[in-house]
Amino acid sequence: MDADALYQDVFDKYSKYINPNLARLMGFAGFGVETYGEGCYIFDHEGRKYLDCLGGYGTFALGHRNPRVIAAVKDQLDHLGLSAKAFFTKNAADLAEKLAQLTPGDLQVSFFSNSGTEAVEAALKFAKAATKRVKIVSTNGSYHGKTIGALSTTGREKYRKKFEPLMPGVSFVDYGDVDALIAAIDDQTACFIVEPIQGEGGIIVAPDGYLKAAREACDKQGALLIFDEVQSGLGRAGYMFACEYEGVAPDIMTLAKSLGGGIMPLGATVMTMAIYDAVFGDNPMAHTSTFGGNPLACRAGLAALEILEEGELIENSRVLGLRMLEGFQAIQALYPDLLKEVRGRGLMIGVEFTMDEVGEVMVGLLMKLGVCVAYALNNPRVLRFEPPLMITAEQVDFALSVFEEAMQETAELLAVLA
Ligand SMILES: Cc1ncc(COP(=O)(O)O)c(C=O)c1O
Repeated sequence: MDADALYQDVFDKYSKYINPNLARLMGFAGFGVETYGEGCYIFDHEGRKYLDCLGGYGTFALGHRNPRVIAAVKDQLDHLGLSAKAFFTKNAADLAEKLAQLTPGDLQVSFFSNSGTEAVEAALKFAKAATKRVKIVSTNGSYHGKTIGALSTTGREKYRKKFEPLMPGVSFVDYGDVDALIAAIDDQTACFIVEPIQGEGGIIVAPDGYLKAAREACDKQGALLIFDEVQSGLGRAGYMFACEYEGVAPDIMTLAKSLGGGIMPLGATVMTMAIYDAVFGDNPMAHTSTFGGNPLACRAGLAALEILEEGELIENSRVLGLRMLEGFQAIQALYPDLLKEVRGRGLMIGVEFTMDEVGEVMVGLLMKLGVCVAYALNNPRVLRFEPPLMITAEQVDFALSVFEEAMQETAELLAVLA
């Protein structure tokens, strides 16, 4: 099948069998069919090469088709794919031990699932069961997933409205507002769930002291603290976990995205032994998943953590994240009317425009020029840059020069329209 025929075939099937409106939108924006990935690059059906600065919303910390993860998964496939569920699974045991070693504080026991929303769903259930309380506090602009429980804590009306009534007992406070948080947490609060860096909210880094204040407010009222590190964790922010920046440990941490090494879907809800005891003490089957903890995904997860543990990728995230951030800041100085703010930590960077339309035009131009990006789900004015952590200085500079070129084109376009 030639490239055009392949595109048409996929487009038609999306239009008939998957999501006609999304197909129209993606078709209009000029997105092709992904066919191949390697390291920091993805290739489309026409063989066009894109520097992947979206990184599957943070899934490709280890790049596309990381050879060490692939080797581990291929080897595993020769032995056992999914779990028969009646036996112990060695890979799950090893991965849980590794997570206990790497995660901060007293986090020790892992519940495995297959996605971020499942990891959050479990965390919320565990918090309610462990505290025997029903109130949950979350933040405006947050994104915790779209299954009913997780959606109930996702701070964006656009995704919630249609599915109401959602899980009761959830209230929202402004992200970063310590006073509002202290006022919202009381002796009936089961937990406060928060991203150390809001991803879909538009890459908003928690103000200094916020996570510490959250820890104190929770401790004071006997509420649990959940850090949703699904996007910010695993090296993305220049630390193994973004919360390490403040040296604050949660009672429950959720992980997914890059945990599967960019090869397998894998989610984890890591909790303290005390929470485990409270939830599973009288029933070890209190929360289960058929596919969660399967040998294949856990083998990928173990390989991913071993690579991250070596530290080079995390160091690269810090150093090249700074290079990228400073590069964007220099471009911002040239276009202060269009570029409102540049922010982020490590290779989790957000570029905020002054108008929604600028973001939309920029995505199209950047894609055309060979850099894959998208805007944040909860904030279309923000383009987020979350490339693989092995990105090189040359690749960062390429992304910056393409961004500057697209910025110039956009400015000229707007000048003509004005
Ligand atoms: C912080 C955070 N939590 C949860 C999720 C949901 O993850 P998933 O899409 O795998 O269900 C996301 C997804 O973007 C996320 O960024």
